[in-house]
Amino acid sequence: MIDLPETASITVKRTNTGDGFSYPILWEHSFDGLQKALRDIPDLHPSRVCIVTDSTVAELYLSEVLDALDGWASVLESFVFPAGEQSKNLDTVSDLYQVLVAKHFERKDLLVALGGGVTGDLAGFAAATYLRGIDFIQVPTTLLSQVDSSVGGKTGVDFQQYKNMVGAFHQPRLVYMNMSVLRTLPEEQFVSGMGEVIKTALIRDAELFRYLDENRVLVKARNPEAMIRVIRACCEVKAAVVEEDPTEKGIRGILNYGHTLGHAVEKCSGLALLHGQCVGIGMIGASWLSMRRGGISEETYRKICEVCLSYGLPDSVSGLSPEEIVQASKSDKKMEGGKIKFILLHQIGDAFIDKNVSDRELLDAAAVLCR
Ligand code: GLY
Repeated sequence: MIDLPETASITVKRTNTGDGFSYPILWEHSFDGLQKALRDIPDLHPSRVCIVTDSTVAELYLSEVLDALDGWASVLESFVFPAGEQSKNLDTVSDLYQVLVAKHFERKDLLVALGGGVTGDLAGFAAATYLRGIDFIQVPTTLLSQVDSSVGGKTGVDFQQYKNMVGAFHQPRLVYMNMSVLRTLPEEQFVSGMGEVIKTALIRDAELFRYLDENRVLVKARNPEAMIRVIRACCEVKAAVVEEDPTEKGIRGILNYGHTLGHAVEKCSGLALLHGQCVGIGMIGASWLSMRRGGISEETYRKICEVCLSYGLPDSVSGLSPEEIVQASKSDKKMEGGKIKFILLHQIGDAFIDKNVSDRELLDAAAVLCR
């Protein structure tokens, strides 16, 4: 264990606006500080608390979190659903509503999302909609949710074949990271999280990209100092972008770097690949197009590919055609007036939104990814 610096927290803040919010992101080494962190939040006094988690995380951490919260609220419930993206739907949300109704949850009560992106998105969506909105906190247990999905208030579930098609913006009151959970994270989940880490570096933090390039051994070994450095840098980028544009009317779109082609690959491959792996593939396509447009040099493109591969991310997908990928990308949410909002790079650390990517360019980029 390492000593955490005094400043092992940041605040995500937007005030003096109709959609204001302010909440801390905390880094700790156990769940022991969770109750104090909650008590420190002004005007948060729930009588009932429900921990929402999946079957995998429940086995590992539910009892620890129940213990950590013992004595804080008069009712402490848990709701456990089967692990996996297949559970991220309105049926699971409906099951959760039933528990909340049966246990008489009221407006000032609280949900705790304990788990990865599926859990955070699903619990957040239930919190956004139950009684027109109750509070929730994020306790992310995967690298992907720590660096991306737990911060920023995007919540939602999949609908029919569409990913995250039904949702709401609903900011958490706290993001609490117990860094020790990374020890039990399966390697492929770690690699998937690295997809979002590298994405964050590419869009806004050239220094982080250099760090990832130069410290591969440390980061891949999940060295605690290195991981705090990396996760904190990602959260700083995410917080800054979300503060500027919480509901993705503009700049927040850059967080979708690699996601247009990535989501399409994810959809076509029938969930055979994890989200961050698909983002990795999509980033290769977006970086290739950035090179073709003259934004980045060939050398930079090759460096991006090399760093992605070195962290175990795939740079291509087999068994899919470029046409299939392009077709799938057209049904994605990242469309505006029938045009795709594609994210490109001027250079590493500097992304922009382009609405003029042609079908031909999309097809050529998709072809780079198909083996
Ligand atoms: N993961 C992209 C966003 O939160 O906007």
